[in-house]
Amino acid sequence: MGRRFPAIVLVLAATACGGGRKTTSNGVPLLAGALVPASTTMVTAWDIPQDPLKDSSLDDSRLSKDIKWGYKLFTDTPHEARQYSPGKMSCSNCHLNAGQRERSLPLVAVAGMFPEYNRRSGRLYTLGDRIVDCFVRSENGTEHVQIELFVEVLLGDLRQR
Ligand code: HEC
Repeated sequence: MGRRFPAIVLVLAATACGGGRKTTSNGVPLLAGALVPASTTMVTAWDIPQDPLKDSSLDDSRLSKDIKWGYKLFTDTPHEARQYSPGKMSCSNCHLNAGQRERSLPLVAVAGMFPEYNRRSGRLYTLGDRIVDCFVRSENGTEHVQIELFVEVLLGDLRQR
């Protein structure tokens, strides 16, 4: 337990632009402009409605860089955070379409749900606590790994979901 690991700042981004976009890149209708519909097939498997790596409103600022890094961390976890993901899974292997698919553990607007009571731990959880749980339980990180993780979900017009 005594080992210290560097903090990971995860900025999970569903950024603010893209208002008015009504279809995925394959022309499939989006749910009111936010999530990839659960009803669609594998044709939308790689659609990312809000992709920070393609978002021209992001600049060279620290915040923009963190948002892009957070997105990479989410979609390529074994590469970006190897020591925390011995199971070699990316967050997006479970939270499909980078957490932007309906009924596939979407995370858009999730920041607004925290803090919330976590029955398993018997205490109030921050969003950071919840992510640490996914690292420990879903990514198979060991209980000894100390992870400080801060997630900022940038929602913009998606906040209305
Ligand atoms: C093996 C599958 C799996 C992986 C990999 C995984 N998760 Fe999860 N995640 C889940 C499941 C299942 C839940 C819902 C659990 C529950 O309802 O308590 C969840 C819940 C969450 C929640 C809370 C959502 C809510 O509505 O309260 C967050 C935030 C989250 N995960 C983030 C992450 C992040 C960040 C990563 C990558 C570091 C990750 N997850 C990797 C399966 C996974």
